[in-house]
Amino acid sequence: MKQELEQLKQAFSQALEVIESSDALEALRIEYLGRKGKLTDLLKGLKDLSPDDRKEIGAFANEVKIDLEAQFARKQSELASLFAGKIAQEEWIDITAPGIEPEDGNLHLTTQSIEEIADIFTQLGFVRVRHPEVEWDWYAFESLNMPKDHAARDEWETFFIADGDKIMEGKKGKVVLTPHTTNGQVREIEKGQLPIRMMNINKCYRRQADVTHAPMFHQFEGLMIDKNVTIAQLKGVFDFFVKRFFGPDREVRLRPHHFRFTEPSFELDISCNLCGGIGKVDGKKCRMCKQGWLELGGAGMVHPNVIKAGGLDPEVYTGFAFGWGVERTFMMKSGMNIADIRILYKNDLRFLKQF
Ligand code: DAH
Repeated sequence: MKQELEQLKQAFSQALEVIESSDALEALRIEYLGRKGKLTDLLKGLKDLSPDDRKEIGAFANEVKIDLEAQFARKQSELASLFAGKIAQEEWIDITAPGIEPEDGNLHLTTQSIEEIADIFTQLGFVRVRHPEVEWDWYAFESLNMPKDHAARDEWETFFIADGDKIMEGKKGKVVLTPHTTNGQVREIEKGQLPIRMMNINKCYRRQADVTHAPMFHQFEGLMIDKNVTIAQLKGVFDFFVKRFFGPDREVRLRPHHFRFTEPSFELDISCNLCGGIGKVDGKKCRMCKQGWLELGGAGMVHPNVIKAGGLDPEVYTGFAFGWGVERTFMMKSGMNIADIRILYKNDLRFLKQF
């Protein structure tokens, strides 16, 4: 039996030698040292030995068992460090290497300006809203005192939405892409929440594409309606905006004009920053403005018909409105001279990254 134990020990050592995985090692342990393993099996024979032999062989068997367990433990730690070494090699990273920095994006020039503009008017209590870009003829024109087929509409070269060859019509007229943010006025009045201090900033669309016109552009529209609203307040709001957006030395001017949806109507001008509003630089005509002023946008006292179209009584309520282009406004601020305005919307990163 002693011999058998010796053989067992040898066989175990030999088998251990070729083992390369912890699964195989565990299988070997079960085979030899497990409850139903080879050693247990062998020791079953002890009971048939004489008491002296049993004592001697028993002690020897114990030594063998301890020896196998020690061999097993050694192999186990050997495999573990081998495995750790392999992982360390395969998954090695240099934690001191500089990271890959994701590229920072930036807001589009137009978005930056919209935020700046909205921020200034918010300080005066105007609330930013957005009215539809896809609009009915009624809100874009008719309710603004521009009846069907009126010649004034020609100025707003409008895109109509067609289904096949047929221009679509809804419950408030033909469906258009709004050519100006003035479409928000009657929609806002209809909400019936007074006083109104609206700032509608949105995309507008016109059938114009050349170096100074993009078919899609942005406007912002201010509307204030309450009792006793005056032109003086319009001028005050305009002045507040201009001084904050363009700088404290810029002056404002209201120049008579004509719009169908305001009465009286004005063009809003700001003093030129190149000549300081004089119209001359070093005795010569200012090349930027020629006469001291730059035109920014349109404004006026809301026409009674517009107030009526929104469901209010123009005898009780009055208001002012203004609207102008976002792109024009930020280009005037920076003095930026873009050869073709359409570059703004061509997604050319070389251009956009500059702002
Ligand atoms: N909607 C006009 C345009 O697109 C601009 C405008 C003029 C807006 C006068 C107004 C206004 O609110 O009162 O040219």
